Amino acid sequence: MKIPSLRTKDLLTVTDCSREEILELFEFTGKLKAQTKAGRQHHILKGKTLGMVFEKSSTRTRVSFETGILQLGGHALFLSKNDIQLGRGETIGDTAQVLSRYVDGIMLRTFAHDTIIGLAENASIPVINGLSDSFHPCQALTDFFTIYEREKDFSHVRLAYVGDGNNVACSLLLTAGILGVDISIACPGKYMPDRKVVDAAQKLAAATGVTVQITSDLDEAVQGATYLYTDVWVSMGMEKDTAKRKKDFKKYQINRKLLDKCAPGCRVLHCLPAHRGEEITDDVMDSPQSIVFDQAENRLHLQKALMCALMGKNRKGVFSWI
Ligand code: CP
Ligand code: NVA
Repeated sequence: MKIPSLRTKDLLTVTDCSREEILELFEFTGKLKAQTKAGRQHHILKGKTLGMVFEKSSTRTRVSFETGILQLGGHALFLSKNDIQLGRGETIGDTAQVLSRYVDGIMLRTFAHDTIIGLAENASIPVINGLSDSFHPCQALTDFFTIYEREKDFSHVRLAYVGDGNNVACSLLLTAGILGVDISIACPGKYMPDRKVVDAAQKLAAATGVTVQITSDLDEAVQGATYLYTDVWVSMGMEKDTAKRKKDFKKYQINRKLLDKCAPGCRVLHCLPAHRGEEITDDVMDSPQSIVFDQAENRLHLQKALMCALMGKNRKGVFSWI
């Protein structure tokens, strides 16, 4: 199996990768997934260690990275901010330099995106963004892989995202632009995605010949959608605004009525965790049109491919297992 090569040292946002690199990553993800399902071992990262630094909660990211590296013959260290010196004031730069002496890659889930930039700048080993306030690249790559494995190409895909213009929405926008997928985002006026990200996505989309639509109009956004996506109204770190957000987002819900306005057979996506009854109703989440648990599973396969591409090389840039 040919391991995909990424030119980047780190994955901080999806713009670290080109369209060709992402498609190569998807091919490899599919192969790893098939081997895993067939019970075949692939110890591509034998003896390698991933440090997983968490400043926020996680179910999927933690379990999929930890299980993923184990399946690749490596080992993960769960490093909660509360338990390491980072939580007592050691700088991110010093933490990066120290971890670089012990482990072969770092996954960070954090608040400010600058923290992850600081980590990557000071680490001599690959750094993977496991979610920041601004971006969630592993999620968006997984989501487009989930679509790709069903569709085989993106020419008939139209993705509509409904809800908060948050980290997930921003990563979806950029990935759609890179891969050439029509995307439409519907958010209440105050919760639109970052203007700089929208501009960047529009530039990428112009190059791949697709459209990026940002609107407050739900009906306009979901027209012709073949995939309908949502995320929580209150992201981690925004809990103090919960009451206001619940009011502001009330009509931005994926329910049967909205789904029926999409293209026939439209599939439903959600990065999870879901707040059932808020951004998505139970009947839609549990319907045959929902592929949210396939998405969750694919985090494992996609991140295994990503770790191979980033951590499979030795420090001279040569794949150590070849
Ligand atoms: N989707 C996602 O990143 O889930 P966790 O917060 O559980 O990791
Ligand atoms: N937007 C959500 C995603 C959780 C996976 C958050 O940041 O909390």
